[in-house]
Amino acid sequence: MSKKAVFLIIILGVMLALGGCASSDEGKEVITPQEKMITVGFSQLGAESDWRVANTESLKNSLSIDNNYILVFDDAQQKQDRQIIAIRKFIQQEVDCIVLAPVMEEGWDTVLTEAQNAGIPVIVVDRRVNVSDPSLYTAWVGSDFDREGKIACEWLNKYIEKKGISGDELNILGIQGTLGATAQIGRTNALLRSSKEYGWNIVEMVPADYAQTKAKEVMQQMLRKYSDINVVYCENDNEAIGAIEAIEEAGRTVGTDITAGEIMIISFDAARSGLEKVLEGKIALDVECNPLQGNEVDKIIKNVMAGKEFSKNTYVEESVFSADDTVQGLIIDNKAYSITKLTNEVLAGREY
Ligand code: AHR
Repeated sequence: MSKKAVFLIIILGVMLALGGCASSDEGKEVITPQEKMITVGFSQLGAESDWRVANTESLKNSLSIDNNYILVFDDAQQKQDRQIIAIRKFIQQEVDCIVLAPVMEEGWDTVLTEAQNAGIPVIVVDRRVNVSDPSLYTAWVGSDFDREGKIACEWLNKYIEKKGISGDELNILGIQGTLGATAQIGRTNALLRSSKEYGWNIVEMVPADYAQTKAKEVMQQMLRKYSDINVVYCENDNEAIGAIEAIEEAGRTVGTDITAGEIMIISFDAARSGLEKVLEGKIALDVECNPLQGNEVDKIIKNVMAGKEFSKNTYVEESVFSADDTVQGLIIDNKAYSITKLTNEVLAGREY
């Protein structure tokens, strides 16, 4: 018996247990599934951050039994090899669709060709895949990481301008995400470009894999190595939290008054844990990276299955939050972005 059949039997059992049956004319109970269930294999790259946990939840909630899905979930624990193995298993299981949240951009051509040859559509979420032929994946849903980085850097440029600080006074430590991940590439490149343009000093760029403990260790080492760091550009909230812990344990203060010796923290994600630090004034700016991608993925899969139209690329909506209102808006690439000074009310509405 195929694994798919086993799943369907389990689902029918669940439907029976939940009373998902209809009565026939003779009064006998017969199962009448409304539509065919869609079997989806979801390869999630890991659980390294609060953002990732929220992203997994969002996908699991949308690709639920109630919503007509049978979800096969695999956590690759940050290893691309494990993602490739999971995709091959999904192909063997003859799933209807594969959802892939790739740990890095490169290295997907072979396995995605195998999925394509098996006739299985692949929806990429969050980070991107860099493949020789874009038809190797069906659609992508995620964030514009380069734009997120641009927002952070333009905010910093405006902020110091308003405070009368010149660019060459900035000594920035970059704590990067997982090297080769789209989120890292976009956010790092934006910082490097702006540093060149505005004459900021980059003391060092060090990866910490989006993980709190690793970022704390990196920050401890960097504080021992350099005494003049005044800005830390953290590529996610968990890294920012780790960096803050290290700075405070070293007896230094985080905040926006860099002329008084405070160290300014810039972060990405705007998860609840990060926003709490914004409210405390410990993260100066938090650029949102929206993990709630499940609804979009659900819509795309259903359209693909029904042979209807869908977008190849879908960007999720994102906001920007700051600890104070020195900079209230930015124009980037002819588009206006408002910066929300974080309040208790805004934080209360944050679900993850
Ligand atoms: O790819 C998105 C990034 O990955 C998020 O910023 C980070 O928190 C996550 O781990």
